[in-house]
Amino acid sequence: MFNLSLPKFKTKKNVDKTEKMSSNKSELDIYFEALRKKEYARLDKSKQTYLDFTGGNLYAISQLEKHRELLEENVFGNPHSSNPTSHKSTILTEEARQKVIDFFNAKDYYCIFTANASASLKIIGECYPFQDGQLLLLSDNHNSVNGIRVFCESRGGGLAYAPIQYPSLNADENSLNELLSAHQEKSNKLFCFPAQSNVSGIKHNLDWVKKAQEKGWDVLLDAAAFAPTSRLDLEKVKADFVSMSFYKIFGYPTGLGCLLVRKDKFDKLYKPWFAGGTVSLVSVLENRHSLCTAHERFEDGTINYLDIPAIKIGLNYIEEIGIDRITQRIEELTQHLIQELQNIKHQNGKNVVRLFGSLQKEHKGGTLIMNFSDKNGNNYPFTEVEQLANQRLISIRTGCFCNPGLDEINSSLSSQDIIKGVESSENPMEAFAKMRGAVRVSVGIATVQKDIDTFLDFVHSFQNK
Ligand SMILES: Cc1ncc(COP(=O)(O)O)c(C=O)c1O
Repeated sequence: MFNLSLPKFKTKKNVDKTEKMSSNKSELDIYFEALRKKEYARLDKSKQTYLDFTGGNLYAISQLEKHRELLEENVFGNPHSSNPTSHKSTILTEEARQKVIDFFNAKDYYCIFTANASASLKIIGECYPFQDGQLLLLSDNHNSVNGIRVFCESRGGGLAYAPIQYPSLNADENSLNELLSAHQEKSNKLFCFPAQSNVSGIKHNLDWVKKAQEKGWDVLLDAAAFAPTSRLDLEKVKADFVSMSFYKIFGYPTGLGCLLVRKDKFDKLYKPWFAGGTVSLVSVLENRHSLCTAHERFEDGTINYLDIPAIKIGLNYIEEIGIDRITQRIEELTQHLIQELQNIKHQNGKNVVRLFGSLQKEHKGGTLIMNFSDKNGNNYPFTEVEQLANQRLISIRTGCFCNPGLDEINSSLSSQDIIKGVESSENPMEAFAKMRGAVRVSVGIATVQKDIDTFLDFVHSFQNK
């Protein structure tokens, strides 16, 4: 496990005091640069600048070593049996499950292992009782949350979107309050929002979980973009359902996520079928089956029993660094990047990049969304920006990031524009690419100053053009 002879993590105040050390580096800089050398040396070896942590985190080399050791030294069989190799798989799976519950302080939840956050969200879509129900989505949701609306509408439930304010990209709290006050007669109402936007990086107000519940709503909190760099304490934020993907938190393995379901809401989810592993009894002679009474009910078929133990390794790794230390590091890197970007101007004083959304430190994760402008203020096509970045081995992401709500707001599009775009072209994607899209840059635990400098150099190359 990562072990550097550094002082224990200090409070923010103390870190600020030590910022001007003789090397001119803060304690956090020194810590994370050492971490980079030890765990992520492949970035420097291959001369890659990775700035897409919201897309996917990077694994530390020690995670791989520990997982490999585990696989080398043990024999694992398919779980759900008492034979010794099966038993071993079951033990490690349950240890990983307990680790997730401990990490998120989630003793009142079932932890259901899934393939990713989208698969977790699909369970909610399939199983939430939308008949005569209501779905309220924040306009800043990932498509894997937006897609729940299809399940809702197909079962006759009502649908509404809560607006996002422009230019702050925060939730419009008055509208949200009004929308949550409606449908008092209904008992199955689901409000879904992301703890952190995957596009703007804005951390939405988690007080809305309790406020919505007080008005009779169940709350699905999508923590996919939030959990990698912020503490999520489910004793404090008691969302009914929580979705996430593990590769976003610690990079390895891919193909695993979880759905956390509050135990008192578990039976509200109606599973429309059964599969191997989800039932305690099935009869063929009699058309009867009994579903398992806990997490197994939603884990269809053979679980990913070879990779699941790597979740515990990954969470131990994050704990070793400290989630609060990660939050602070991300906050510092992001604020530094914002400041530097705002200082890069064309000779006529116009900014080279236009950052979207509130940049307020307390509510901002490590994701920045922006457009590049020429000296006349016209946007560069994001596809061109990405291609130029690719040439410098800089990994950024462009497009609309599976979050059409925010993209439509940032691109000032109306419903009419969307309809026109769809109807006027044989290739709606092409039409949309002309109207929509932006550039996303995100920092993470492996980011060091050199990465920021490389990106800033890249932005400088657009000056006076
Ligand atoms: C906020 C948010 N929700 C959901 C998802 C979907 O995650 P996955 O693609 O791992 O299923 C993502 C992925 O980027 C995300 O950022």
